[in-house]
Amino acid sequence: MAKKKTGSPKGAAPEAPPRVVVLAAGVGSRMRSSLPKVLHRVAGRTLIEAVLDAVAGLTPSQTVVVLGPRREHIEAVLEGRGVTVVVQDPPRGTGDAVSRALPALAGGDGPIVVVAGDTPLLTPATLRALVARRAERRLDAVLLSFRPPEPGDFGRVVRDRRGRVARIVEAAHAGARERRLGEVNAGAYCFDFAALSRALSALAPNRGSGELYLTDAIAALAKGRGGVDAVVAEDWREAWGVNTRRDLAAAEEIERRRGVERALDAGVTLVDASTVRIGPHVTLAPDVIVHPFVSLEGTTSLAEETEILPFSRVADSRIGRACRIGPHTDVEGARIGARARVGPFARIRPETVLADDVRVGNFVETKKAVLGAGVKANHLAYLGDAEIGAGANIGAGVITCNYDGEKKHKTVIGEGAFVGSDSQLVAPVTVGPGAYVGSGTTVTKNVPAGALAISRTPQKVVEGWAAKRKARKQT
Ligand code: UD1
Ligand code: CA
Repeated sequence: MAKKKTGSPKGAAPEAPPRVVVLAAGVGSRMRSSLPKVLHRVAGRTLIEAVLDAVAGLTPSQTVVVLGPRREHIEAVLEGRGVTVVVQDPPRGTGDAVSRALPALAGGDGPIVVVAGDTPLLTPATLRALVARRAERRLDAVLLSFRPPEPGDFGRVVRDRRGRVARIVEAAHAGARERRLGEVNAGAYCFDFAALSRALSALAPNRGSGELYLTDAIAALAKGRGGVDAVVAEDWREAWGVNTRRDLAAAEEIERRRGVERALDAGVTLVDASTVRIGPHVTLAPDVIVHPFVSLEGTTSLAEETEILPFSRVADSRIGRACRIGPHTDVEGARIGARARVGPFARIRPETVLADDVRVGNFVETKKAVLGAGVKANHLAYLGDAEIGAGANIGAGVITCNYDGEKKHKTVIGEGAFVGSDSQLVAPVTVGPGAYVGSGTTVTKNVPAGALAISRTPQKVVEGWAAKRKARKQT
């Protein structure tokens, strides 16, 4: 048959999509936490979500998650992700966990990918490499191995004299020579379904712990005819597993370094690369400058030449080019145009939209506020549920009183309006284009375009009052 090759092995029919098993039934006692281990977070994402995100890159036909005791909270996180939950309670080892998942996997005939729920740094590309290696060489199993600076508590990969994978020895059961082996098991595998079923049903409890180890299935398959191989991770950091708080802190630092390296490669200046955090879903344009102690989180993008000054946080926001944000400014859920100046000490809350050339200064809070081009609110203001036309000036201490105790109401300020300092705008209310509001006014009625609103009590002046007071006190 003259068939075009599509990257599948030796012209064979393309392999069916993999089916995935995620192991997350362990108690995680080494974390010393009331929270299940896989609900701890790295770069803001729970471990289990990070693993599921990586797995999604395989476009599996089915994903089964094995959960154990304390599963309610994990189930809540899994909701809406279309995964099948299987219960292993009590947890009797990684081999037992996979055995429980197999019956739920009856449909489809792709290979079985198994990953641990506590390896949050895995990338889809590496998981794909496992699947590809197994298909290419028609192996019974392929495991992911890596060479961390210290092999620590990871299972050691033992190879035979010809360099083939022979078995995996858990650190706790390893002899002195095995403990020194630098290649360790990442806990991610790709199996042929039939071979895996066979090996699992032949597993015997580990003599030390009484658990069934998935790693023993590797040893059994290595003795068989189908063969076992290891893909060695190019970057050891992505295979890092979390068992303790120390491991969790190390994972966070690995993820932080990744963000830093991505930013540097994109042409960003990091004034102090050791103190900034840049999340995995942050996009930075060339010539962005990020100062020390800045945190860029969620789905955020910064355009060219924008500068974020020290101690500021930007989350889930889009910022245009040549803006200057901070220091000590918090931006969340906002859209900011070009050349805006925000901060120091500003708080830009969700649904804020700042057009080009806006200036928002110190101790100004915005929430659900749309500020037109060139609007200035330079000092001490609260702008909530507000729509402010281009070129308007908001004085120091201006407050939109948007909440009546039950509902929120809107304030509309027209283009070019001038709202004097220390004024309150009691919403719902409109200040027309080009209108003036005198300092200290409480605006309760709409102000027409071009008008002046003023509600101050007239000033009284009493000449010589101070001297008279003094005299009164002396008598
Ligand atoms: C495991 C591997 C080890 C490897 C390391 C990589 C075994 C026996 N050892 O060790 O070779 O170097 O991962 O990070 O597999 N789990 C269950 N049910 C259980 C036990 C565990 O679902 O009965 C889950 C855990 O929730 C966890 C994963 O399986 O997500 C791995 O278990 P864990 O106890 O963390 O194994 P390690 O000691 O890290
Ligand atoms: Ca682990």
